[in-house]
Amino acid sequence: MADPIDLAVVPVAGHGTRLLPATKSQPKEMLPVGRKPVVQYVVEELAQSGIQRLLFVTGASKTSIENHFDIDEGLVTYLRESGREDELQQLSFERRRMEYFYTRQRRQLGLGHAVLCAKPLVGRQSFVVALGDSIIGINAKSDIVQRMVEQFEKSKADIVVAFEEVPREEVVRYGIARPKGETGSSFELADLIEKPSVEEAPSQLAVAARYVFSPAIFDALERTEPGKGGEIQLTDAIRILLKEGAKGIGMCLGPEEPRFDIGNYESYFKSFVEFALADPDYGDALREHIRKLI
Ligand code: UTP
Repeated sequence: MADPIDLAVVPVAGHGTRLLPATKSQPKEMLPVGRKPVVQYVVEELAQSGIQRLLFVTGASKTSIENHFDIDEGLVTYLRESGREDELQQLSFERRRMEYFYTRQRRQLGLGHAVLCAKPLVGRQSFVVALGDSIIGINAKSDIVQRMVEQFEKSKADIVVAFEEVPREEVVRYGIARPKGETGSSFELADLIEKPSVEEAPSQLAVAARYVFSPAIFDALERTEPGKGGEIQLTDAIRILLKEGAKGIGMCLGPEEPRFDIGNYESYFKSFVEFALADPDYGDALREHIRKLI
């Protein structure tokens, strides 16, 4: 039997142009949502789901991500010696049982290309992909990746993709599932349709930033033609595999685990407000303040 999947690839190399000027010299994955940067929630979610090795695909201007997960002994000593136990507690994530690895995508040629950059390090093992700009569940309270890995192993799938149900009029913004037959909390995936019209959309299930792949995805990515702007799309590689008869499974996020996409301002603002409202110390005061404002 193959070893259980404990490796996740987290692409964080994109330009984040939709969040300029905030992302001119800092990664969008380091923007705070409530108290923590986006990527810290992603790591916490993955750790909860049994991931123990994490490979970031980073790029230019992204070194603050590496710094964030380093152990800052100087800061720890300073906080300890000045008796600031609460603040010290905020650094406990540094001690998490996780091994971090980094590789660079030297040219931003799309998400598919970023995943392909992981090939020399991942080799012939199955692995998780978690987008570094998306949080699943308030404060990352989700075990979707664990459920996906279990399903991947149980059904001997080649691909498992997480989906979120979106309103009909929003299908035009996402990759949408074409399920084979009935959809429940999981379903067989026939195809993915990128940004379909409302009329053409085969479902309202939008790709939601978490995947499990067998290493066959690398072969498919190598055969994927670049699309708009010379970018290699992960969705296109998944479609190649499905067309060739690979087994794809879709898994739906539950109502308690919405996806927070920190890729554009509308969604970033909404996410920040929701997390801030859930803050145990400041949520209630903020709720009052917002009530007064509106
Ligand atoms: P997006 O599709 O939002 O692309 O990335 P982007 O380039 O970051 O953003 P815009 O369109 O310019 O605003 C989804 C995830 O994939 C990573 C991003 O860092 C993000 O976490 N990504 C995207 C890469 O690692 N490399 C790429 O070439 C593109």
